[in-house]
Amino acid sequence: MAAIGVGLIGTGYMGKCHALAWNNVATIFGDVDRPRLVHLAERNAEFAAARAREFGFARATADWRELLSDPEVDVISITTPNQFHAEMAIAALEAGKHVWCEKPMATSLADAERMLAAAKRSGKVAIIGYNYIQNPVMRHIRKLLEEGAIGTVTQVRVEMDEDFMADPEAPFSPRSEKASGYGALDDFAVHTLSLLWNLVGHAKSVMTDLGKPYADRPLTDGGRRTVENHDQASVLMRLEGGIPAVLMVNRAAWGRKGRIALQIFGSAGALVYDQERMNEFQIYRAAGPTGEQGFVTVLAGPQHRPYDRFVPAPGHSLGFNDLKVVECRELVAAIGGEPFRAIDFAEGLRIERSVHAMAQSFAERRWVDVADV
Ligand SMILES: NC(=O)c1ccc[n+]([C@@H]2O[C@H](COP(=O)([O-])OP(=O)(O)OC[C@H]3O[C@@H](n4cnc5c(N)ncnc54)[C@H](O)[C@@H]3O)[C@@H](O)[C@H]2O)c1
Repeated sequence: MAAIGVGLIGTGYMGKCHALAWNNVATIFGDVDRPRLVHLAERNAEFAAARAREFGFARATADWRELLSDPEVDVISITTPNQFHAEMAIAALEAGKHVWCEKPMATSLADAERMLAAAKRSGKVAIIGYNYIQNPVMRHIRKLLEEGAIGTVTQVRVEMDEDFMADPEAPFSPRSEKASGYGALDDFAVHTLSLLWNLVGHAKSVMTDLGKPYADRPLTDGGRRTVENHDQASVLMRLEGGIPAVLMVNRAAWGRKGRIALQIFGSAGALVYDQERMNEFQIYRAAGPTGEQGFVTVLAGPQHRPYDRFVPAPGHSLGFNDLKVVECRELVAAIGGEPFRAIDFAEGLRIERSVHAMAQSFAERRWVDVADV
């Protein structure tokens, strides 16, 4: 396949992460042509030009629509804030570009539906940036579940916590605006749902409580502004196959920096993982003498593919940005018509439906079936 021409919109936290992935995918995997970093867009021309120099892109613009008419751009990474995803992804697909859009898919269900329709019409590849499923450790946990290593799954618990909004006096940010979405549901719950989809299945019905620990926050230029969405969510769920599950997410959890805690209980054992220790997992096998049973900690190593593509030595650790390189390789496979494992717009819409079902459940104080949303 000819080298892919890359466009990038947004160069903040995730824009840099995508740029690193596009820069590294050929070196790490060794089996794809080096992508051509063609055109990058930021809010203003000077910043865009500086970022293009730093990230290695040939051209820069302050108008993201210029990427749509650039014949050398085959795929567009969309790493702008949530409320821009739908407009940019649909425009990119209509311009005949493949799309790699950051999560959450959109801030309204109608927009997410329009995005899937645009992807189907275009016939182009469109995936969402659910990088945590790409951890080699997570892939191994999936393999263990498929092999029945812990028997039949009987219950799942998943939590995602960070503390960047734990301080009640942290300044009001766009993340607290309704325009950015539901809050913790869009920031965090979607990630945990991507893990559940990858390992055990989508949510089928949900019962939700949302929490807003602080009613308002200070504005940087004085005064205070009302917080418009929720920093916390507690959700009871039934997953596909009738598996009971609990999901808890919190953007205001002091001490938690990047926690995604997963516990999967089965009829013959349990699997445990925490993103803050992303290079290991624990497995408990209910076998052998009961006096010798206990959780075993397994460190990531080359046998957990594709860890081997990054480092030949076990226990030397991958990092957050490496997950995006793996995701990028999956996207390149998809564009090349090969089998891939990433969350496309169809699966992404299913995750969006789950999140909207959660919000509806909270508003109506009742269980909601995801299919009814
Ligand atoms: N996959 C993950 O693990 C993960 C982690 C963090 C954030 N995210 C998602 O990534 C997205 C971006 O988050 P972030 O933390 O990188 O934000 P950020 O604020 O660091 O970066 C966003 C960038 O987009 C630019 N931008 C905004 N509007 C633009 C426009 N019209 N044209 C060009 N550039 C524009 C901004 O100037 C900024 O540089 C969000 O949707 C967020 O949910 C995903």
